[in-house]
Amino acid sequence: MLVSLVPWFLFISLSDARPNRKPTTTLINQICSQAQNSSLCLQVLESDPRSAHADLGGLGKISIDIARKDAKQKSNLIASLKKEATNSSLKGRYDYCAELYGDAIDDLHGAGQILNKKVLSPFDISTFRIKASAAFSGPNFCFEEVPPNEPSKLKEAFKKFKDLCEIVLVIGASLKSG
Ligand SMILES: *[C@@H]1O[C@H](CO)[C@@H](O)[C@H](O)[C@H]1NC(C)=O
Ligand SMILES: *[C@@H]1O[C@H](CO)[C@@H](O)[C@H](O)[C@H]1NC(C)=O
Repeated sequence: MLVSLVPWFLFISLSDARPNRKPTTTLINQICSQAQNSSLCLQVLESDPRSAHADLGGLGKISIDIARKDAKQKSNLIASLKKEATNSSLKGRYDYCAELYGDAIDDLHGAGQILNKKVLSPFDISTFRIKASAAFSGPNFCFEEVPPNEPSKLKEAFKKFKDLCEIVLVIGASLKSG
């Protein structure tokens, strides 16, 4: 039984290495070389076990998952900062930030749904890009009128979220229809 299984495994792994399918490490390097924060990009994509066998769409889903997880953490951070805040206008500002992060999470989710399709149309791809860039820039508005001494923690945190969304954007730029 075991013996007869072996050739099948060989066959599967050989057929998986079709020449038109780039090894994932090459693909990751290609994507991350275009990202603003290449080292973060390499670190997060390489540390996800799913990356080893992912194609471009697969890496898109992985990067979306990572950005969504980060946005959820930011939402928790905002909730705890709001609890500590004594100033009511600051509390309102945190509510606004939480809402922006909630929207970004929804946008990322929508972009991820598109990648579930087997074939992408040009419309799918442009929708993906629009959602990814909305997620990338949305939480920015959180900082526009924030008192300068306040959420430096948030600003730092937002930088990482932006870097993560940028990976999604880079992948979106490489998606092809058909
Ligand atoms: C709340 O903080 C803002 C920004 O620092 C300040 O302009 C405002 O006067 C503060 N309000 C109260 C009630 O302390
Ligand atoms: C890349 O991201 C990491 C983690 O957020 C950060 O510490 C580092 O400063 C960033 N590097 C650049 C060039 O932005």
